[in-house]
Amino acid sequence: MTDGVLAGVGAPRSTAEPRSTAEPEGRSRSGFDPDVQWWRGAVIYQVYVRSFADGNGDGIGDLAGVRTRLQYLADLGVDAIWFTPWYVSPLADGGYDVADYRAIDPSFGSLDEAETLISEARNLGIGTIVDIVPNHVSDQHPWFQAALASKPGSPERARFWFHPGRGKDGDEMPNGWVSNFSGPAWTRTQNPDGTPGEWYLHLFSAHQPDLNWSHPDVRAEHEAVLRFWFDRGVAGVRIDSAMLLMKDPALPEIPAAPGPGEHPNTDRDELHEIYRRWRAVADSYSGARILVGELWLPDIERFAKYLRPDELHTAFNFDFLARPWDAASLKDSIDSTLAAHAPVGAPATWLLSNHDVTRPVTRYGQEDSSFAFATRRAGVPTDLELGRKRARAAALLCAALPGSLYIYQGEELGLDEVQDLPADQLQDPMYLRSGGTDPGRDGCRVPLPWAGSRPPFGFSPAGATGESWLRQPSRWAELTVEAQQRDPHSMLSLYRTMLRIRRSDPDLGDGQLQWLPSSDSVLAFARGERFICVTNLSRAPIELPAGCSVLLASSELTADLLPPDATAWLHPERLQTQDRTLRCPTEGGE
Ligand code: NOJ
Ligand code: CA
Repeated sequence: MTDGVLAGVGAPRSTAEPRSTAEPEGRSRSGFDPDVQWWRGAVIYQVYVRSFADGNGDGIGDLAGVRTRLQYLADLGVDAIWFTPWYVSPLADGGYDVADYRAIDPSFGSLDEAETLISEARNLGIGTIVDIVPNHVSDQHPWFQAALASKPGSPERARFWFHPGRGKDGDEMPNGWVSNFSGPAWTRTQNPDGTPGEWYLHLFSAHQPDLNWSHPDVRAEHEAVLRFWFDRGVAGVRIDSAMLLMKDPALPEIPAAPGPGEHPNTDRDELHEIYRRWRAVADSYSGARILVGELWLPDIERFAKYLRPDELHTAFNFDFLARPWDAASLKDSIDSTLAAHAPVGAPATWLLSNHDVTRPVTRYGQEDSSFAFATRRAGVPTDLELGRKRARAAALLCAALPGSLYIYQGEELGLDEVQDLPADQLQDPMYLRSGGTDPGRDGCRVPLPWAGSRPPFGFSPAGATGESWLRQPSRWAELTVEAQQRDPHSMLSLYRTMLRIRRSDPDLGDGQLQWLPSSDSVLAFARGERFICVTNLSRAPIELPAGCSVLLASSELTADLLPPDATAWLHPERLQTQDRTLRCPTEGGE
């Protein structure tokens, strides 16, 4: 740092306090109501209910457990909680196989308890987002059971994709589509007399039959389900597999390179009409009730079409999460994301993890950090120390970008992917259907460590005898909430300070970003006139721009330099963006 005005250097934990702890005008401190724009810059925390906190001691997370930890989330500083599906379900896919969209699974609690939870969260200024799963139901759902009990061509079967097989005895699948969990996307039924019958489509496991979204019952039912939850005060819904609902009724094979809108089961143009209707439902409620799409789409222009003003409010930005730890690649993702969102007026979202992808501490600790799923990660050497350093830097980078921010439970504790779970505990259909060649997603779903020195680390109440449904590694003793809140250097302390600054700084959250000149391996940008974020992705320490004080840094500064794999948040005393180049001294001798 060239002119010595940085405060708190060398001690990131004791960096300058945020400039103001007062609530800025225009951003609600209290969840989703009454500020209708709350979602544009919100911090949303994802609770994977089974693994968050166990209230009754059976080793499975539940709503009672969440209620005891609401204050923790309020102290962390989140605006809303997104709950992964909590409905009645055989849990063949962790609850993404719903048997009743209007009732809570008994292992999690009851509808009364969900209502209490929604209002308790609301009283703490936290909105609730529920997960709607419209593409498929559980094979135990009454509609599917009725369809199985009915004849080919019956109205009951018309709500799904039943189809005769090809070949002489109909024993070949109707087409060659492959399930997202590997293996065929079709399963053959049995007739009441035991003979083989029609096939049904399931883009995920055989326990998740796909609904036919051309059928009016399917549309009406989901609009009613939206109303059911909005009537209970939820702030929004996350829409599972939002790009898959519509299928080409001719069920053609998938072309090698389908043009825009030409894929037979993904991103079909007819989807937009569905979401326009959903938006009208959401807009008929007071306050902003938001629709958040889970849209895995490589074409960012097509992605942005779902965010037009009369469709979804936001959608998960998976592109950023899947990029390697590389300045050019991350910058490209940031630029293309912001450029695609601008014309439709929607804010971007930023996330580093969720319940489907490898934990960032593990991902960034591997040489190829570019691919998010666990599929290619088994047995790959991992440097957890490096990964944790980068995950800290990535957290500050993401939280400084324009838009809303998602945090997956345990990310704030720096949990790593558990890659050595015993095979008899693994439950993910990705693992089971691949015959074990895909490690699946259980490793990022291990119950949270709250306190104490031994599993279950306070996940279940004291005195509970059973194990948690997935076993926690003993090394997590250092990562419990209890241990981390005592440690000002911990990941939890970093997240708390980060969110406190973000909340109190009117330049953060929704708004504009301005890139600052920097070396190629450094990302540096300003938010407004009073905030700069610098991430060093080079291999050498860098000087920070002159005339700034450090608000927060992900690693300790040494001799006033920002080390590699670190991010600093700065407060410029004098912002001179035109003539300041952030230098990486060992690179090219700048
Ligand atoms: C996306 C969800 O995030 C994932 O966990 C689930 O397996 C699939 N959709 C199918 O519902
Ligand atoms: Ca329980």
